[in-house]
Amino acid sequence: MAAGSLIPLVAGNWKMNGLAASRTEFAKVLAGAAELTGKAELMVCPPVTLIRDFAGAARGSGVTIGGQDCHADPSGAHTGDISAEMLADAGAGAVIVGHSERRTDHQETDAMVRAKAQAAFRAGLTAIVCVGEQRGQREARKTLEVVGAQLQGSLPDGATAAQLVIAYEPVWAIGSGLTPTPADVAEVHAFIRKRLSDRFSAAGGRIRILYGGSVKPANAGELLTISDVNGALVGGASLKATDFLGIAAIYR
Ligand code: PGA
Repeated sequence: MAAGSLIPLVAGNWKMNGLAASRTEFAKVLAGAAELTGKAELMVCPPVTLIRDFAGAARGSGVTIGGQDCHADPSGAHTGDISAEMLADAGAGAVIVGHSERRTDHQETDAMVRAKAQAAFRAGLTAIVCVGEQRGQREARKTLEVVGAQLQGSLPDGATAAQLVIAYEPVWAIGSGLTPTPADVAEVHAFIRKRLSDRFSAAGGRIRILYGGSVKPANAGELLTISDVNGALVGGASLKATDFLGIAAIYR
């Protein structure tokens, strides 16, 4: 399916950044969002401490607030963890699951990511499921094999296009300033689209596939206009409203 037929999503992953004072920067995102109405959707995933505040500020703006991770269970004895229900209760509409930093720092497996995505669905949240190869895997030409296995293992059955977003994030491109060539991005996104269509039939054609990894205003035009790239998951550049909006501006 051509990228143009889906409303693109530009999601900012703030990671472990943001204090109460960051509301000023977020207010700038909200101020810029109106220009994108009907053309692209914006999402900001701040640390969990800011979700309720940001969700309140974002009400009526069309900007969605997302979490960066959730536990698979709705509640229980899991010190320090946050459930999908808690994110929804705080005003989130989505949650990132299976980010490579979670897969690496917290040894999250595909099965765990799948359980988290299922928890997101249970709580009424959209799950942004991240996949992507490491540098050595790309060099060994195993990218499609790795991404295919991650998709197979991390995605719950029966997902709808409203519930699920995929983020293709080559691990070596995250925070490095490096990006794959447009041809490489096109190859992986076409592969993911095919897998989604095979598995989810009609819904598979409507699930958005984001590209993530060193997206900036300077490369957004090149990366986000590739076929089957339906938006971006942005880390570092999402912390500055001008950069984040500068990326989304390609859809204006
Ligand atoms: P980056 O991070 O934009 O800083 O490379 C992307 C991500 O980790 O989602």
